Amino acid sequence: MNRRFPTLFSPIQIGTVTVPNRFVVPPMGNNFANTDGSLSERSAAYYEARAKGGFGLITIESTVVYEQAKGGPRKPCLFDDAVVPSFKAVADRCHAYGAKVSIQLQHAGPEGNSKLTGYPLKAASAIAPSAGREIPEAMPREEVYKLIECYGDAARRAQLAGIDMVELHCAHGYLVSTFISARTNKRTDEFGGCFENRMRLPRLIIENIRRKTGGNMPILCRINARDEGDGGVDVHDAAAIAAYLETECGVDGIHVSRSIHIHDEFMWAPNITHGGFNAELVTEIKRAVSVPVITVGRYTEPQYAELLVKQGRADLVAFGRQSIADPELPNKARNGQLEQLTPCIACLLGCVPNMLKGNPITCAMNPAVGRESEIKPAEVKKNVVVIGGGPGGLYAAELCARRGHSVTLIEKDAELGGHFLVAAYPPGKGEITGAIRSLIVRCRLAGVDIRTGTEATPELIASLKPDAAIVATGSVPLRLPIPGLADCGYITAEDLLTGKFDAGKRALVVGGGMVGCEAAEFLTEREHAVDMVEMKPVIGEDIVPEARKYIMANLEKHKVVQRVNARVKQFYADGVDFTDTVTGDEGSMRGYDTVVLAMGYKSNNTLEEKLRECVPEVYVIGEARQAPGNSMLATGDAFNIAVKI
Ligand SMILES: Cc1cc2nc3c(=O)[nH]c(=O)nc-3n(C[C@H](O)[C@H](O)[C@H](O)COP(=O)(O)OP(=O)(O)OC[C@H]3O[C@@H](n4cnc5c(N)ncnc54)[C@H](O)[C@@H]3O)c2cc1C
Ligand SMILES: Cc1cc2nc3c(=O)[nH]c(=O)nc-3n(C[C@H](O)[C@H](O)[C@H](O)COP(=O)(O)O)c2cc1C
Ligand code: SF4
Repeated sequence: MNRRFPTLFSPIQIGTVTVPNRFVVPPMGNNFANTDGSLSERSAAYYEARAKGGFGLITIESTVVYEQAKGGPRKPCLFDDAVVPSFKAVADRCHAYGAKVSIQLQHAGPEGNSKLTGYPLKAASAIAPSAGREIPEAMPREEVYKLIECYGDAARRAQLAGIDMVELHCAHGYLVSTFISARTNKRTDEFGGCFENRMRLPRLIIENIRRKTGGNMPILCRINARDEGDGGVDVHDAAAIAAYLETECGVDGIHVSRSIHIHDEFMWAPNITHGGFNAELVTEIKRAVSVPVITVGRYTEPQYAELLVKQGRADLVAFGRQSIADPELPNKARNGQLEQLTPCIACLLGCVPNMLKGNPITCAMNPAVGRESEIKPAEVKKNVVVIGGGPGGLYAAELCARRGHSVTLIEKDAELGGHFLVAAYPPGKGEITGAIRSLIVRCRLAGVDIRTGTEATPELIASLKPDAAIVATGSVPLRLPIPGLADCGYITAEDLLTGKFDAGKRALVVGGGMVGCEAAEFLTEREHAVDMVEMKPVIGEDIVPEARKYIMANLEKHKVVQRVNARVKQFYADGVDFTDTVTGDEGSMRGYDTVVLAMGYKSNNTLEEKLRECVPEVYVIGEARQAPGNSMLATGDAFNIAVKI
C-alpha cells in the first residue's frame, strides 16, 4: 500500500475491468492523429508516456463515430475498419505498463466543422452554439437512428483494437448533450420534450453499443454537472441524468465534467481556479449513483484528490492538463518526488489554443509533449554554457545535461527563475513557483553546475571554453523616450510585485497588458485605489480569454478606471497627460501617489555578438530572442535547441 496516497493507489472495478489506481487521463484532443483518422506513432508515444508515468486509466481523445461529422483534420475516427490496427498499437503500448484504456466516442454536433466535412452541422435543434457560429440543422429522426448504429459500430471497432472500455461524450454542448439539455433540445418527436425523451438518444446509443460489443465492455458516460448556460442542465438535472444512466441504461461509470463552450472558464479553468472547484458538484452526482464516478477540473498535485476519494465523494480523479504538463505525476506521487513535478500552471497557452486551431498541442511547461521521441542521448558530449536562469535557461540546461552534456548555468541574480519568478506573485499564479522549483531540482539532479550571483561577460564565458553557449538573458522593461519619465519617480511592475518598492494609497498603472492588469489586481487586493491607462482600445488584450473574464471582473469590482485609447505624452510624479488616439483630445490623469510602469519589454541580448567570436555554437532563446514573450516561447526555444546540440 502506498503510504502517502493509499486511496489513489488502490485499484477499482469498472464493470468487468479492474483499473489499477485512481489516476485518470481524461479525453483530450491533441491533433497528433493522422489525417486518415488513424492514430499515429506520435499519438502512441504520447499515450504510452502517460501509461509509463503510472496513470491507471488512459482515455483516448474524442474520436469521431460518424463520417459526416469529423470536426478537424487530425481527429481520430472509428467509422472505418481500416484504422483498427493503429488503435490496437496504442492500446498495446499502454497495456504494457499495466494501464487500462478507454476511448471517447463523439459526434461534435453544432461544434463541428462543416467546411471541412462538406456536410451541414447537426444538432438536436437549429440553435447556434455562440455568436458568429453557424446555425446547425436539426438532425432528422431517420439520421438519428442511423447515427445510433454508428456509435455501436465504433465501439465494436474499439473492442477489436483491444481497448478496455468506451466513454460516450454526453457533455460540453456536442451532439448528444444538445439532445439531453432542454436549453438546446426543442424537438417535439420522440427525442424531445420530457426527460425520458431527451435521454432517449444516449439510452439507445448505450443499448446499441452493448449489443454490438457482446455486453461485457464497460461503458462510461461523460456528462456536464452544469451547462453554465441559462436554462441548461444544472447539478440537480445532472444527478437525475446520472441516476437514469445507471439504472435505466446500465452504464458502468460516470465521468463528471462541466460546461458548454461559451463558458470554457469552467471547462478548462484558468489559474485563479484551484483543484477541487468542482468538488461540490461531483459530490451531488456521487450521491445519486452507485457506479464509479470520475471527477475532473484543475487537479495538479494529488493531496486534495486523495482526500476527495477517501471521503467517498468521487472514485477516480482525472488530471487533464496536469497529465500534459507531467506524464509522470502518479510515479512521482508514489515515489515521494513531488518536488520534481512539473505543475500545469493553467496558462492555456500551448494546449487548448492549438487543439482548437487543429494544430498539434504543446505545453508551456512541457514542450516535450508529443515530441517524446525526439529526446535522445547526445552523440558527441559537449561543454555547454547556459546564460540566464529563467524558464528558458533552466529548461535548456536540464535537457542538455539529461542528454549527457556537461552544463554550466550562469545567473546574475542571487535567485533563479528570471521574470517567471516575478510572474508567480500576482493573484492566482503561485503554482509558477512550483514550476521553477521543479526545474531547479531537476537541473541539480541532472548534474548542472549552477552559478548564481554571477554576471556573464564575454571574458567569463570564453574562460569556460564552451563548445556551445545558450543565451537566455531574457528581457528588460521598455522605457520609451516620453518626457518626464526618467525623473517622475516611477516604479516598475516587477519591483512592485517582488516587494522592492511599495506603492502609495493611490496608484496609476501605465500599460494595460497582462502585466499591467496583474499589477493592478495585486494592488487592489491590498486595498490600494488603482486606475489604469492604456494606448490600445482594449485592456488585457494579451490575456487568455478564460483568465481575462476573472481579471476584468476583479478590476470592475474594485472600480478601477480603465482609460483606453490614451497615448501617454508626459509623465509627472503624480500621473500623466495623454492624447486620445481616436478623438485627438488631450487628457490628464493626476493626483496619484505612485506611477507604476508596465509598458512592455524588449530583448536583453548584449552578449551574442561577442560570444560568436569565441564560441563555436551560439544560440539565443526565449525573450532574449523575442520580446515580449512568455514561458512557452522560452521553454519551446529551449527544447528545440537542447535536442539538437
Ligand atoms: C508580471 C509578469 C507576469 C508574467 N506572467 C506570465 C504568465 O502568466 N505566463 C507566462 O508564460 N509568462 C508570463 N510572464 C512572462 C515570462 O515571465 C517570460 O516570458 C519568461 O520569464 C521569459 O523567460 P526567459 O528564460 O526568456 O527570460 P527571463 O525569465 O527573463 O530570464 C532571464 C534571466 O537571465 C538573467 N541574466 C540576464 N543577463 C545576464 C547575464 N549577463 N549574466 C547572467 N544572467 C543574466 C536574468 O537575471 C534572468 O534571470 C510574465 C512576466 C511578468 C513580468
Ligand atoms: C487540449 C485539450 C483537449 C481537450 N479535448 C477534450 C475532448 O476531446 N473531449 C472531452 O470531453 N474533453 C476534452 N477536454 C477537456 C478535458 O478532458 C478536461 O475535462 C479539462 O481539461 C479539465 O480538466 P483539467 O483542469 O484537469 O485540465 C480537453 C482539454 C484540453 C486541455
Ligand atoms: S500549456 Fe499551460 S495550461 Fe496547457 S497543459 Fe501546459 S501548463 Fe497547463
